Amino acid sequence: MAATEWIDRWDDGCQSDERRNELVLPYLAGKIRDRNPRTVLDIGCGSGYISRILSRTFADWVIDWILLDDKPDCVRYAVRGVELPARAREIVTDFREPLSSAIGADLAFVVFSLLEFPFTKQVAENLADCVTAGGDLVIVLPDVLEDLMAAQYQEINLLEQYVKGISCLQKQDKFTGTPYNFFAPRVEEVIAMLTCPAFSLESLSFYGRAGKRILILDFVRRPAPLVTEHVR
Ligand SMILES: C[S@@+](CC[C@H](N)C(=O)[O-])C[C@H]1O[C@@H](n2cnc3c(N)ncnc32)[C@H](O)[C@@H]1O
Repeated sequence: MAATEWIDRWDDGCQSDERRNELVLPYLAGKIRDRNPRTVLDIGCGSGYISRILSRTFADWVIDWILLDDKPDCVRYAVRGVELPARAREIVTDFREPLSSAIGADLAFVVFSLLEFPFTKQVAENLADCVTAGGDLVIVLPDVLEDLMAAQYQEINLLEQYVKGISCLQKQDKFTGTPYNFFAPRVEEVIAMLTCPAFSLESLSFYGRAGKRILILDFVRRPAPLVTEHVR
């Protein structure tokens, strides 16, 4: 199999995926229209499908796209696809590790990528380093219980694992058949870690379509706290 063949298959899957096309893309397009971001960051970009469609939708807008993933093949693939590759920047980094420098996007989104690594304090700090003060962060998660049920591990108590926060399972990717570690981040933990102190939660919405539900968390980056010196 050619090195990027699995990315082609992933991308094919995205093209017919109702959750991305009918829920996520309209939501993000609305966000861009409302907020007019100059720099948009796609965290865990995969094939870059989401950024590609958005960059075509907003081809006349001046937007710099930043594609971030820990897999160099994904980032290269994603950058080639955006409407104006010259306006795109590649970042290959493992998002579990500290970022080498702040990124400063006006809008950052994480579409289904938080399923592939645990949501730690470091990840929350990285998210804060990615977004400018007043900028937006959109996190898209599936209904994790539905996904856990789809993993079909009847022999273990999935709900108990989820509640205890040890929900790393081996799951087969539905588009490519490739096994991968699946984490189910607890929504309340994601909110608690981000809202104190870097972000405020703007909205939390559930969307459903054809029996599939997703959750969209929409945050706004707070300004950095003012450092005041006490004069005695
Ligand atoms: C489920 S895919 C989602 C891709 C894309 N956001 C989409 O919706 O089509 C998750 C992506 O996260 C990336 N990823 C997994 N672990 C990562 C990590 N530790 N750091 C950065 N990216 C990671 C994977 O390479 C993959 O491209």
